[in-house]
Amino acid sequence: MSAGTTAAISMVGIGKRFPGVHALKNVSIEIKPGEVVGLIGENGAGKSTLLKVLNGIYQPDAGGVFVDGAPVRITSPRDAFDKGIAMVFQEQLILPNLTVAENIFLGRDRRIPSLRADLEIAHECGSRSRIAQGSSQRASRQALR
Ligand SMILES: Nc1ncnc2c1ncn2[C@@H]1O[C@H](COP(=O)(O)OP(=O)(O)OP(=O)(O)O)[C@@H](O)[C@H]1O
Ligand SMILES: [Mg+2]
Repeated sequence: MSAGTTAAISMVGIGKRFPGVHALKNVSIEIKPGEVVGLIGENGAGKSTLLKVLNGIYQPDAGGVFVDGAPVRITSPRDAFDKGIAMVFQEQLILPNLTVAENIFLGRDRRIPSLRADLEIAHECGSRSRIAQGSSQRASRQALR
């Protein structure tokens, strides 16, 4: 990746306070297209808080977020998703009556043909991906309509 490539995501000077805790102090990070970046820190260092800012769960008290070089205000996880940002949460909450595929695609617009196709393919992988009994392919296919 050349040094001049515009970052897909950059967060600049991010600050976030909670009552009694200054969780993020002037944090900056840049992720170029195609890069995989690891964020490492001790418990309570602020990793999740930074990603929640990026995912629109928290608004930063300071700093800015840029997507493809353009300043953005990310107002919600849905807004983040619309900007090409998705988060897999540390504390996994799953719906055990749904399949793995259904959990992954939860909340995404099933009218979008590419997502529909992905979900259909996932169904064809069969019951191996099922988290728990109780969900039928018929039920989820109905949900696709
Ligand atoms: N909603 C909140 N309200 C108050 N304090 C919070 C909140 N979320 C996080 N904190 C505090 O902010 C700091 C950073 O927490 P955060 O969860 O971002 O750390 P982390 O690096 O993800 O830690 P871990 O490795 O344990 O997941 C901690 O002191 C935490 O207690
Ligand atoms: Mg965390």
